[in-house]
Amino acid sequence: MANSYHVPYIDLAAQYEFYKDELQDILLRIASSGQFILRKEVSELESKIAEYLKVNYALGVNSGTDALFLSLKAAGIKSGDEIITVSHTFIATISTIVHCGAKPVLVDINDDGNIDVNKIEDAITKKTKAIMVVHMNGKICDMDMILALSKKHNLLLFEDAAQAFGASYHNKFAGTFGVCAGFSFHPMKVLGCMGDGGLITTNDEHIYNQLLLLRNHGQKTKSELVLYGYNSRLDNLQAAILLFRLSKFEEELKSRREVAMYYIKNLSSLPQIKLPILDEDNRRDVLSSFVIQAKDRDALQKFLLDNSIEVAVHWNTPNHKQSHLKLDNFNLEMTEKYSKNILSLPIHSFLDKEQAAFVVKKIIEFYEK
Ligand SMILES: Cc1ncc(COP(=O)(O)O)c(C=O)c1O
Repeated sequence: MANSYHVPYIDLAAQYEFYKDELQDILLRIASSGQFILRKEVSELESKIAEYLKVNYALGVNSGTDALFLSLKAAGIKSGDEIITVSHTFIATISTIVHCGAKPVLVDINDDGNIDVNKIEDAITKKTKAIMVVHMNGKICDMDMILALSKKHNLLLFEDAAQAFGASYHNKFAGTFGVCAGFSFHPMKVLGCMGDGGLITTNDEHIYNQLLLLRNHGQKTKSELVLYGYNSRLDNLQAAILLFRLSKFEEELKSRREVAMYYIKNLSSLPQIKLPILDEDNRRDVLSSFVIQAKDRDALQKFLLDNSIEVAVHWNTPNHKQSHLKLDNFNLEMTEKYSKNILSLPIHSFLDKEQAAFVVKKIIEFYEK
């Protein structure tokens, strides 16, 4: 069913409609070929992405969550280790650390939603093994400082690049800074498939070989098992869809960035909202979300929803405030303040000028009331 909002947050039905002929050809071609698991399209996608990101290895897996989990496993993260990361993230960043038996040590964020590098050193203990940065909303963290810290303290660096496919910092792509990075191809992401999918990048040959085993039951060959692995393969059908979507990626990113620039141009005079700063310090942001900080956020959210504009809050309750997760021993002032003010506006490559103008008009109307 098509989305019932006049301005949907994201419009997967419109995306399908736009590429219908090509997508139907792909679906039928793979269905009739009988090539479903670890076939040509998976390795073709891996090579294309490795080449695009300029990284030695790319490995398709079944989700962004598994991309992070298998990365941590392959790099040897284990019980008793501590990993520094943020509370302001999708829970998978933290849960995958917990599933390795390690302890997530949560630090605060900057005003842009990314890790505050000045908070990292205080969080380091004898047990700290790694930093997991999250490139939130498609903007890369302060990598010069983070790389310097990880080197100084001899820590592994992981990137949660789930939201940052195609983002760059000083001409280097997300997913190429650390030991491993995890990407998500969830349909809501900037490069999404028709279900779950993910990918790991690494420059390390040994880790790549471990990952190949971990994603496919530890099978070195059909008859030789060398470890207890998992079933975490990217479906061939999803890989075929992703190959097609990758060919449209730069074009789609351009449209997405035009929406962001329109919002910035037309909302910048409002003192009640703080807009994201685009492409700060030689970055290319991919705007997986367009997040504003708004005065009277809850009332604005309700007003926009009532006016058929689908906005969202990512996330209302920070993870360390989720009472069942036992992460409440962290004092993260900025994270808590941020979660009360943020609002994600609709953004996607199929959002037209009239829809963007309607969003702007209604936000201005709200504050003029
Ligand atoms: C920051 C972050 N990390 C990890 C994930 C997990 O990705 P997936 O949903 O593909 O498992 C997501 C996706 O929502 C995410 O936004």
